[in-house]
Amino acid sequence: MQRALPDLTITPPVAGEKVTLVLHADGKQYDLPVLGGTHGPKVIDVRRLYAETGYFTYDPGFLSTANCDSAITYIDGDRGILLHRGYPIEELAAHADFLEVCYLLLYGKLPTPSELADFGYVIGHHSMVHEQFKRFFAGFRRDAHPMAVMVGTVGALSAFYHDKIDITDPEARMVSTHRLIAKMPTICAMAFKYSLGRPFMYPRNDLSYAANFLRMAFGIPAEPYVVNPVLTRAINRFLVLHADHEQNASTATVRIAGSSRANPYACVAAGITALWGPDHGGANEAVVNMLEEIGNKDRIPLYIKRAKDKNDSFRLTGFGHRVYKNYDPRAAILRESCHEVLAELGKTDEPLFALALELERIALDDDYFVQRKLFPNVDFYSGIMLRAIGFPTAMFPPLFALGRTIGWIAQWKEMIEASDQHIARPRQRYIGEAIRPYVPIAER
Ligand code: SDX
Repeated sequence: MQRALPDLTITPPVAGEKVTLVLHADGKQYDLPVLGGTHGPKVIDVRRLYAETGYFTYDPGFLSTANCDSAITYIDGDRGILLHRGYPIEELAAHADFLEVCYLLLYGKLPTPSELADFGYVIGHHSMVHEQFKRFFAGFRRDAHPMAVMVGTVGALSAFYHDKIDITDPEARMVSTHRLIAKMPTICAMAFKYSLGRPFMYPRNDLSYAANFLRMAFGIPAEPYVVNPVLTRAINRFLVLHADHEQNASTATVRIAGSSRANPYACVAAGITALWGPDHGGANEAVVNMLEEIGNKDRIPLYIKRAKDKNDSFRLTGFGHRVYKNYDPRAAILRESCHEVLAELGKTDEPLFALALELERIALDDDYFVQRKLFPNVDFYSGIMLRAIGFPTAMFPPLFALGRTIGWIAQWKEMIEASDQHIARPRQRYIGEAIRPYVPIAER
């Protein structure tokens, strides 16, 4: 039965709606147009503000600033709603194959069976990397963090694909997009295998995207790999849940890098770099490290106390969000997936999962977290599930990058194809020294 969808319609701006800015410095008034979208807050168009007033707007971290028009993803942070091209994340996570979601984010519609088959064929036939590409790995220490390996090797893709790197050519953009979607699982699995000192596995086009990735990560040449449908469904859901998330730090990085017309491989490498931070995609690794440090339920109150102490830099990682001030819908789905995987692997007594559930229960009963609307986010449960499947914590951010690549590249494509595309160039409020003459060293 179709789930009733929440009413997200907004009252569009009335014709000519505007905001009048009164500058007390000279008493002048300036009318700023108000623009509306499909869902979400209306925007005040300040593009003419500096030219007309000589003033900048000021919004470090851009929490109140829309830096683009986008039709790909919509988040209602207060209601915990996440849509991709209008489809609720809960329905995509429950029913869609990851490649279906890739097609949806790229082209704005759910594919027909033949469109999905054709798309899967194209992606499958880009899934291998150049044989010389393997040599890049040999330059890294075996214990290098796999995100460092991913940044280096994904950026190096632009050293191989000069043939289709002219981003003004729609066909080259399409091929680059397909190559990134297709090669990221191969590269991510190679980074994992390299860290273990085990042989790389070639992709297999007869497997689904998620099953192919699991086989490249855990299969060995000496014996056939048995696909586990529960783990495959969990990884597929993990990738769908990480696919895109509006203008988060790493996506905004990809857009800004792409706005200078840098090639898409370099832009995605920049996105991987931004994602790595523990406040962003590195949080899934930090959550498991935090849970291991807490160790047992009796120590939870101590860490809750530390998280509330302004003099202690400790934060309850996996909690809170720049936008969600309600439960991150992805966290609830991942908690369910986590439970399914643990049951499948006979690990329902996994102490970290029990500890995470107890930590969530206690935190959501604590005024500090409730008042600040700090709920579990996408990273809180994902690491426990990935570790149960067999990935070490250092591999969690690369897996986030694997899922987010489609979002990065779909947003890059949308930005490049926008009619008003131009290089991004934020301004600043200068608070440095006033202008002053150079002092010769003999006089200092
Ligand atoms: C992702 O942007 C995206 O969409 C990101 C992402 C995506 O899909 O791309 O959703 C993926 O990055 C999820 C977030 C993963 N990060 C973590 O889990 C790290 C732990 N969380 C935080 O560090 C923090 O919550 C942030 C960075 C996520 C948000 O930081 P903000 O915006 O500064 O938090 P806030 O302004 O809402 O904080 C309000 C208050 C502050 O205290 P007061 O000054 O009001 O007293 O809550 C406090 C913060 O100090 N606070 C926390 C906390 N997060 C915020 N206190 C303890 N533990 C925390 N986790």
